[in-house]
Amino acid sequence: MKILFYMPNAEAAAWLHDFARALPEADLREWQPGDTAPADFAVVWRPPRDMLAGRTDLRAIFNLGAGVDAILALEREQPGTLPANAQLIRLEDSGMAPQMAEYVTHAVLRYLRRFDEYQTLQREGRWQVLDPHPRETFTVGVLGLGVLGAHVAQAVAAFGMPVRGYSRSARPVECITTFAGAAQFDAFLDGVKVLVNLLPHTPDTADVLGARTFSRLERGAYLINVARGAHLVEADLLDALASGQLAAATLDVFREEPLPAGHPFWQEPRITITPHISALTLREESVAQIAEKMLALERGEAVGGVVDIERGY
Ligand code: NAP
Ligand code: GLV
Repeated sequence: MKILFYMPNAEAAAWLHDFARALPEADLREWQPGDTAPADFAVVWRPPRDMLAGRTDLRAIFNLGAGVDAILALEREQPGTLPANAQLIRLEDSGMAPQMAEYVTHAVLRYLRRFDEYQTLQREGRWQVLDPHPRETFTVGVLGLGVLGAHVAQAVAAFGMPVRGYSRSARPVECITTFAGAAQFDAFLDGVKVLVNLLPHTPDTADVLGARTFSRLERGAYLINVARGAHLVEADLLDALASGQLAAATLDVFREEPLPAGHPFWQEPRITITPHISALTLREESVAQIAEKMLALERGEAVGGVVDIERGY
């Protein structure tokens, strides 16, 4: 089994070392420009177009993340970049779901218990008790009920807030009120106090976090975006904060990453910024999952996490 590896700015040696341990029979190499030698599988994160285009030998491309928007953008910009016979396979959880649950529950509880406002009061040297938010009306709405969204929704529900979830197709999740499809989008949004975004970035979901969506939420709502920067209309967020329609936002992802110096978000105290760390790709778990899937494919078995290219996730 021949495996090509590519990850920008990363410790390729450590990944190749772990893959060699998991698949001792495999012939592994880090892709270098000009390498067109045969390979059965590619393991990539944000690969250059040259690495994949024209590779009729590839059977599967393993994406070192849950989101496949970057690799599908290559195909959209230049159809035929992705080898037609190769399956595109994304990571399924591989240690990301618990990280995402920690991040989102922390942000939700921070807003529920008004720690963000107490932080401001402390900076101002003020001892002041704020009225608590009633838990029973602090409705949390999770956009996307996939591998990560469903796990996050259940983690939040364990704290007793009402939790709703929204997906493309009907998807029952225990302890969550679920909504599906465009026809139920407004019913999902109406009265939500904290909107959490865990949708994939596709042509259908781009800009979903904009003025219209914000206007349906309860006044003084909170936004937590842990999916992709392209989901958020940045100017609409600033307007919604200025008008009071939104009280605050926690953002892990941005249209441009790193967030450029001088971007207005840096100076907005109601926006909490983290550098795309809500769920990191964990090497050990990811290597184990990918190696297992490669062996299954070698045996002719089907594997999970195969991306539907048309649908975009
Ligand atoms: P997933 O398992 O593919 O789940 C996607 C969910 O979104 C599904 O429930 C799907 O509906 C729903 N959906 C897709 N398009 C929709 C539409 N047009 N309208 C309504 N619902 C739609 O993905 P995942 O593994 O949970 O990951 C979600 C995203 O999180 C990734 O794509 C990635 O962008 C982001 N992410 C971010 C980080 C980070 O560190 N910030 C880390 C990992 C992942 P169906 O159930 O009907 O298919
Ligand atoms: C990270 O953003 C991922 O998609 O896994």
